[in-house]
Amino acid sequence: MNGMALKSILLHPDPRLKAVATPVAEFDKDLRKLADDMLETMYDAPGIGLAAPQIGVGKRLLVMDCVKEESVKPRPMVLINPAVTWVSDTLATYEEGCLSIPDHYADVERPCEVDVTWTDLDGAAQTERFDGLWATCVQHEIDHLNGKLFIDYLKPLKRQMITRKMVKLKREKARA
Ligand code: NI
Repeated sequence: MNGMALKSILLHPDPRLKAVATPVAEFDKDLRKLADDMLETMYDAPGIGLAAPQIGVGKRLLVMDCVKEESVKPRPMVLINPAVTWVSDTLATYEEGCLSIPDHYADVERPCEVDVTWTDLDGAAQTERFDGLWATCVQHEIDHLNGKLFIDYLKPLKRQMITRKMVKLKREKARA
């Protein structure tokens, strides 16, 4: 291996998951290492997206790869300081989950297409239109950078039920 390291993923509820992340200013070797570690952690989980706050790093950085088919080459993406610049009027509903809220899934409605601009690891500006699962994933991960979780879209009762179960899970994990 080339020195990558798995990071532990924070579990909801955690104040670090509710904080607004700060923009990345330094495009250096440490940032590349952070992105590599996040990708390795995401693939290992396994998941299709991971935002820096989920490993306790309050920076505006996310990784994702929504390629599901075994026959299709993986597409690891690193988005730094991402911003949604356009959303479609048409909405789509996906059953979402989150590595910080394991074993809980719920339908969330979001724009089915979005334009996103970001900076890549070389400091170059990028823009892309995402649709399908990619659109849902990138919006979910950008939400993480703003301290927002997918359960924040649910009705309060459902959100509280999930949070109560997560508190119990974390208590059990702490005892184990
Ligand atoms: Ni998530």
